[in-house]
Amino acid sequence: TLATTSFASAQSFPERNITIVVPFSAGGPTDTVTRLVAEAMSKDLGQQVLVENVGGAGGTLGAARVADAEADGYTLLLHHIGMATSATLYRKLPFDTLNAFEYIGLVTEVPMTLVARKDLEPTDLKGLIEYAKANKDTVTVANAGIGAASHLCGMLFMSAIETPLVTVPYKGTGPAMTDLLGGQVDIMCDQTTNTTKQIQGGTIKAYAVTAPERLDVLPDVPTGSEAGLKEFDVSIWHGLYAPKGTPSEVVDRLSKSLQAALADQNVIDRFAELGTEPSPAEDATPAALKAKLEGEIDRWKPVIEAAGQYAD
Ligand code: MLT
Repeated sequence: TLATTSFASAQSFPERNITIVVPFSAGGPTDTVTRLVAEAMSKDLGQQVLVENVGGAGGTLGAARVADAEADGYTLLLHHIGMATSATLYRKLPFDTLNAFEYIGLVTEVPMTLVARKDLEPTDLKGLIEYAKANKDTVTVANAGIGAASHLCGMLFMSAIETPLVTVPYKGTGPAMTDLLGGQVDIMCDQTTNTTKQIQGGTIKAYAVTAPERLDVLPDVPTGSEAGLKEFDVSIWHGLYAPKGTPSEVVDRLSKSLQAALADQNVIDRFAELGTEPSPAEDATPAALKAKLEGEIDRWKPVIEAAGQYAD
């Protein structure tokens, strides 16, 4: 009977609200992406798709929450590149990254920006690097914890300039941005989904974008390589996951709904305003996300080991 029930419920899925866990604070880039996708998925599924923020430990607490959730398709996780880096950074993760989730699909790839409080003296990246080296014991770098995209980008920056700086962790770069705007923290490397409006409004300073080409929405911000940092090119891919054991019919229905959401005009337009775009339909699939996660774990493992930064 259990098998029959689960088969029947899988066929009529969804029958009630769905929750997508965001493993960072409200108001940050992961939250922004998720709320736009959730709204569009609600329309496609005919059920509310709610967003729950579970911050802490660089996104691993929220990921663990979903790894342990009922495998019925009603609790999902929207996480980014941090799912891959955390597999190396955390020696004692409460879940086995490659065996704890079903893959629904890729969502978007977002460039990062190296930004600062608006009155930080340096006017370009070269000046910022000199300033950081001269003040390495006082310059503060905000991030969203070990395993966050902002942590990875900050680590790449510090490795590139061969200067460790003081890092200040938050539960998300939403609250970190509040302190940057208030001048309580000096610099941050954060996704354009959280920084574009502030840069355009002049409330923070932007030194570089971590993309091969300048962004249409930020035409005056040089790329890392233009500004002299060749290895400063990282884009933050995001994926949608369900707990391991979620029925395949449910995973397929969710993948179709994600693809519909990524074709939604409002999602396309809002992503474009924030310097990004939806993943193509062929990437919003279980196979594409599985391949991406496996490849990225292998790609970042040596980089993290060379930087020697681990979470205990
Ligand atoms: C990150 O740094 O991983 C994210 O930007 C954190 C967030 O979405 O708040």
